[in-house]
This record gives sequence, C-alpha cells and structure tokens, in this order.
Amino acid sequence: MSAPKAPHPDPASQENEDHLKTQANGITRRGFLKGAGLTAAGTALLDGVYAFSEEAARSENHGVTVIGPEPASIKLNVNGKEHAVNIEPRTTLAEALRNQLGMTGTKVICDRGSCSGCTVWLDKKPVNSCMTLAVDAVGHQVTTIEGISENGSLHPLQAAFVKHDALQCGFCTPGMVMSCAALLESNPNPTENDVRHAIAGNLCRCGTYPRIFSATLEVAGSNRKA
Ligand code: FES
Ligand code: FES
Repeated sequence: MSAPKAPHPDPASQENEDHLKTQANGITRRGFLKGAGLTAAGTALLDGVYAFSEEAARSENHGVTVIGPEPASIKLNVNGKEHAVNIEPRTTLAEALRNQLGMTGTKVICDRGSCSGCTVWLDKKPVNSCMTLAVDAVGHQVTTIEGISENGSLHPLQAAFVKHDALQCGFCTPGMVMSCAALLESNPNPTENDVRHAIAGNLCRCGTYPRIFSATLEVAGSNRKA
C-alpha cells in the first residue's frame, strides 16, 4: 500500500515556512537567501532590509501585496542621487544597476552569491548585489564603485590598488575595493587579519590577495598618520 500523500502547504501560512525548513539543519529558504546576499561584514544590515520588504509587503489584503509580474516603478538612491527605475520584482540590485542605470562597474561573475564580485554598499555595509533584490534596496543608500571616488579623484584605496598592482584580470577588483573600503569606513585602523576577514567572501582567481592586503594596509597606515 502506498504512503498517503503529504498535504500541499498553504503558501500564506506559517506551516509553509515550517515546510521550507530543512529537517537536517533547521535553515529556512528565506533565511538562506537572507544570508546569501551578504558579504563578510554585512550580516547586520540585511535584517533591516528584510524588515523593510516584509513590512512593505503587508497590506489590508490578508497581509500580502502582490507586485508584478509586470514591471513596477521604484526609486533607488544610488551614489547620492535618486533614480526612477522600472523593474520586475525579481530583478536583482546588480541587474538594476547594470542594465537600467548603466553602472557596469559592478561585476556579475557567479550570479549566485559565491564570489562577492558584485559587492556594493547598502548604507555603507557591503552586500552581494546579485543576491539582493532591487526592491529591497528602496529606502537605503546604495553605493557602487562609481560612487566612491571624490571630485574626479580616485578613492585612496583605488589609488593604492593601482600602486600595488593589486589586480590582474580585474574582474574581482570592484568587489574587492568595495569590501576593503567598507572595512576602512568601519575600522580605519585594521590589521591584516581584519582585511583577510573583510574579503573572506571575495574570490580572486588570479591570486592577488597579498597585494590587496598591502594596498589596504597602506591606506590604513596613512589613516593612522592623519
Ligand atoms: S556573488 Fe554576486 S556575482 Fe558572485
Ligand atoms: S584579478 Fe583576476 S580574479 Fe582577481
């Protein structure tokens, strides 16, 4: 005799959340996605981002607002300027930046949260933009590699990367710079271990890590003298 079929879970119910919970380790799909959008230092931030999206998703209609599948108009604050973009709800922040706003400095390499090549800042915290929905960036300050230079001059870290030749193919470089610059924002005086930790999720297949450490520590050194 065949085993009775498990009842199909109600998508809106708490049981559905439980259904998504893996029995082996207790991680929910939502929790996994939440974590996957983060780079090494961004854990605290995305709680806020998801709090925003869940709140925005509530309405009088059974607590759910349905957006899409047609494109919807949202406003993103990128590098200090408001931009109106028309996106499908599934659009990632990386796609919105590159395809809608033409900011191609942010690289999409793995497109699955494995390399951090797509790192941008949300409220100065590094996140993987390929794992962050554009709608979740509404109400937050997005900073891209195009936005960290000042008055046409390279950010000190960009200049240090050039000086230390901290790149080969350059694909990982924008993400590396954003992760290291975020570290310097939160800790102007990091140790090499701090730098290692900050780029723990950033992969460089060309193996430029020692030069990235040198570049970042040199900028930290000039911070110390200041
Ligand atoms: S983590 Fe986003 S492109 Fe690899
Ligand atoms: S410089 Fe080529 S992947 Fe890092």
